[in-house]
Amino acid sequence: MSKVVERKDEYVHELFNSIADHYDSMNMFMTGGLWKYWQYRFTKLLGDISGKQVLDVACGTGDLSLIMAKRVNDGAITSLDFAEEMLAVAERKIEHQGFSERVELLHGDAMALPLEDNSYDLATIGFALRNVADVSTVIGEMARTVKPGGRVISIELSKPKKMVVARPYYWYFENIVPLMGKWAQRRAKDLDMAPYAWLPESLKGFPNAEELAEIFRENGLTSVKYYPLTGGIVCLHVGTKQ
Ligand SMILES: C[S@@+](CC[C@H](N)C(=O)[O-])C[C@H]1O[C@@H](n2cnc3c(N)ncnc32)[C@H](O)[C@@H]1O
Repeated sequence: MSKVVERKDEYVHELFNSIADHYDSMNMFMTGGLWKYWQYRFTKLLGDISGKQVLDVACGTGDLSLIMAKRVNDGAITSLDFAEEMLAVAERKIEHQGFSERVELLHGDAMALPLEDNSYDLATIGFALRNVADVSTVIGEMARTVKPGGRVISIELSKPKKMVVARPYYWYFENIVPLMGKWAQRRAKDLDMAPYAWLPESLKGFPNAEELAEIFRENGLTSVKYYPLTGGIVCLHVGTKQ
């Protein structure tokens, strides 16, 4: 894995391109359906976004973008990712559900968003901060592109504090997730196993919930709050640009 970590962005780019077609079903499978609950909690935190201009950073296959597209009415979503294959799946889903006019897909790097300052009411990032080369740079880019008064929201795996949750959680990640990846690979011969070995690795250097809140503050976001979900294995963060 050390070679992997040396060139994290390239590795992550390749990795998501290789699993794009299986990404949605593997998420549901590996989280035992909790994925949907976490999306529901994300939706509740969004509140009323009718008429808003929204940026979904590292949109992947577009689930969060679609959730928001259904709620912006005459607003719009810009959905950005650097993995072309993930964007291709997102495009198909968005078209199939009839939201192509509301969602603009953009190929780009979260580390250097190809977007103007102060353009969006809301910038979101889902399950992607763990994968970027520098968390603070990405939060800074999201803060830069939202308007004053706009919000930045992240939903991401986190580090549960309570041993009773933490022990089984890390054990599951270290032992079961890679096995599930292997099993899925046998069923889908074109599926690369590496992503599911990468999952536990991606959590290792990642900040805990309070540290991530501090990164939000360091990037000029205020009223920062966070909401641990499912015993803290996932966390929602929100901050507002002054
Ligand atoms: C685990 S997926 C999450 C996708 C989606 N947000 C979701 O909730 O399902 C992580 C995504 O982050 C994207 N990503 C990682 N680093 C990126 C970067 N530097 N710029 C743009 N996208 C990036 C990957 O291509 C991948 O689609």
